[in-house]
Amino acid sequence: MNIILLGPPGAGKGTQAKMLIDAYGIPQISTGDMLREAVKNQTPLGLEAKKYMDAGKLVTDEVVIGLVKERIAREDCAKGFMLDGFPRTVPQAEELDKVLADMQKGIDHVVSIEVPNSELMGRLTGRRTCKACGQGFHMIFDPPKVEGVCDKCGGELYQRDDDNEETVSNRLQVYEDQTKPLINYYQEKSLLRPIDGVGAIKEIFERVKAVLG
Ligand code: AP5
Ligand code: ZN
Repeated sequence: MNIILLGPPGAGKGTQAKMLIDAYGIPQISTGDMLREAVKNQTPLGLEAKKYMDAGKLVTDEVVIGLVKERIAREDCAKGFMLDGFPRTVPQAEELDKVLADMQKGIDHVVSIEVPNSELMGRLTGRRTCKACGQGFHMIFDPPKVEGVCDKCGGELYQRDDDNEETVSNRLQVYEDQTKPLINYYQEKSLLRPIDGVGAIKEIFERVKAVLG
C-alpha cells in the first residue's frame, strides 16, 4: 500500500506515521526528516536547505524530488511506503505521478489530516523530538514521563529550530499558498481520504486505520 499523509504543519502527520509503521510494516518517508539529517551532517544539500527551512519556506522542488526518487527506488519500499510531508506543491505531485508510473506503481490513499489553524501554533511550539530515535512528544498533549527524556529509548529531547512562533506563522502561510491546492488535486483523482485531526492521538489513529482498511 502506497500512502501520502497530507496536512498542515502540526497536523500530526509524523505522529501518525510512527504508529502506522508498526501497524502496516511500511516505511515512513519524511522529506523533513531527510532534510534535517542533511543539515545535521552539514552536507552541501543540507547547508543550502537550512536557509529555506529556518525561514519556514519550501526547499526547491528539484531538491526534494531528487531525494524522494532515490528513496522510493530502494528495496524496503517494494511492498509499500508512506510519504510524510511530500508532495507539498502541485509540481511535486505531478512529478511523483510520473516517477511512480515509470515504476508501474501508484498512490492508493491520500490521508488528509484536518486541524484548524487555531490549534496548530500551540502544537508546534510545544513539540519536542527525540535526538536518538525521532519519537515526537508534546509538552502538554503528549508529555514524556521524565521531562526532556524519550520514553521509548531514553534519548535526549530537543526543540526544532523552525518551531518558533515567527517561523511557524510563515510555514502556515506557505501551506495555505502552496500545499492546500493538493487537496483538490487528489480529490479529483478520487484519492482523498479526509480525517478529522482533532482529538486524542490514539483516536485519530483509529480513524486513519478505518480509511486504510
Ligand atoms: P516537515 O518536517 O515536513 O514539517 P511540517 O510539514 O511543517 O510538518 P511537521 O513535522 O511540523 O508537522 P506534523 O504534521 O508531522 O506534526 P507532528 O506529528 O510532529 O518540513 C520542515 C521543513 O522542511 C519545511 O518547512 C520545508 O522547509 C522543508 N521541506 C520538507 N518537505 C518539503 C517538500 N516536500 N518540499 C519543500 N520543502 C520541504 O505533531 C506536532 C505536535 O503536535 C507534536 O508535538 C505532537 O505530539 C502533537 N500532536 C500530534 N497529534 C496531536 C493531537 N491529536 N492532539 C494534540 N497534539 C497532537
Ligand atoms: Zn527516543
